Amino acid sequence: MARGLNARGRPGRCGLRGRCRLGALLACAAWTAGWVLAAALLLRMHPGVLSERCTDEKSRRILAALCRDYLGGALGGDLCEDLCVAGRLRYQRCLYYERGKKVLQADWRGRPVVLKSKEEAFSSFPPLGLLDDQPEDEDSSRGFSEAELLPLVVGEVKSALGLELANGSLGHLGLGWPGPRLRGQLASLWALLQQEEFVLLSLLRGLSPHAPPVLGSCGHFYAVEHLAAGSPRHRALFPLDGVSQGGRGQARAVSGVALSFLDMVSHFDHDFSHRLHLCDIKPENFAIRNDFTVVAIDVDMAFFEPKMREILEQNCTRDEDCNFFDCFSKCDLQVHRCGAQRANSNLQVVCDKIFRHWFSSAPSSPAISLPLRLQLREAVQECAAPGTQAAAPRVFWKLRHLLQAALRELQEEDQ
Ligand SMILES: Nc1ncnc2c1ncn2[C@@H]1O[C@H](COP(=O)(O)OP(=O)(O)O)[C@@H](O)[C@H]1O
Ligand SMILES: [Mg+2]
Repeated sequence: MARGLNARGRPGRCGLRGRCRLGALLACAAWTAGWVLAAALLLRMHPGVLSERCTDEKSRRILAALCRDYLGGALGGDLCEDLCVAGRLRYQRCLYYERGKKVLQADWRGRPVVLKSKEEAFSSFPPLGLLDDQPEDEDSSRGFSEAELLPLVVGEVKSALGLELANGSLGHLGLGWPGPRLRGQLASLWALLQQEEFVLLSLLRGLSPHAPPVLGSCGHFYAVEHLAAGSPRHRALFPLDGVSQGGRGQARAVSGVALSFLDMVSHFDHDFSHRLHLCDIKPENFAIRNDFTVVAIDVDMAFFEPKMREILEQNCTRDEDCNFFDCFSKCDLQVHRCGAQRANSNLQVVCDKIFRHWFSSAPSSPAISLPLRLQLREAVQECAAPGTQAAAPRVFWKLRHLLQAALRELQEEDQ
């Protein structure tokens, strides 16, 4: 009798060996698929789980290595003395690690600041070739001139931002040489120039209330002001700690922040020689000042028009191939090439990802009158809808007008 047939001569639960194995295999596959699905969902919800843990111990180690390199002469910068010798730039807490990126909070002479670098180690950045030909000792690196260095800097800015800059406009980069420890300073400047965010923020210094000015640097770390960063965890997307918890206080704050977002959008669209496109719009990438000014604290994905066109112009077979984070263009199906012109706008994405949360999806504050709330909701929906480019200026002014009306209403109620 075949093995596995039961007493009645019929196959048992595992009577046919093949079927039994198949069942076990299927169960195993289902179990594995379940775990893979759960892991994928977890990763989607919390992409940071795979990244290194942001700890004080590790952060202090990173800064200690930075100071060792500074004292050894390998790097420099205007903040190194305060960080490594005078104790006037003090580490406070770890804010964020993601892939190489490190964001640390510190106190600089009583002022809260953020130290940022795209990579943990100074050695992760490519060295400045010019220094290879120079002997190691300090004074000999004075042997080359600004004239030799400037074209290299211009080239780096071109590759980071896609902009051809005149030598004269490089003043903004704060290239304050020569100074002591020139060799280390140049090596550090080179590491900073490899960080698009540093280059952009340095160029915007003094030119935009919506970008944090670079306060200084040490090695590959640069410092910016510490501001109240947004997060989806906050009910109003931004920490409104100082604001009275009453409905009116919150409504006033949200309207103020929304007006500043509109101001920022208009500023980035019109106030530079090229439009500045924000391709990663989410609360975490913006912060607010006490007066509700919105500041773009993460500009890794901000591109001036020429670079934006370069990024968008790719081969494609459908429109979805032409989506670069929050910046979209259309696929020309005849030539299978994405249009270089962005098809959506900063305003549209701000409306979709920020304003909808305030004025559309959740019931907005009853502190504002119902007719105004309904008008705001409708305007935000119109603004966020795809394909509203032609109507954008009208929608922009409508939103501005409604938010100002909301502020007036709240003010009148206060009196
Ligand atoms: N100037 C700042 N003030 C306060 N928090 C900041 C500042 N810059 C960055 N952060 C915090 O660090 C996080 C990561 O910085 P970010 O530049 O957005 O990194 P990434 O480019 O990897 O997204 C931000 O979401 C914010 O919470
Ligand atoms: Mg970010």
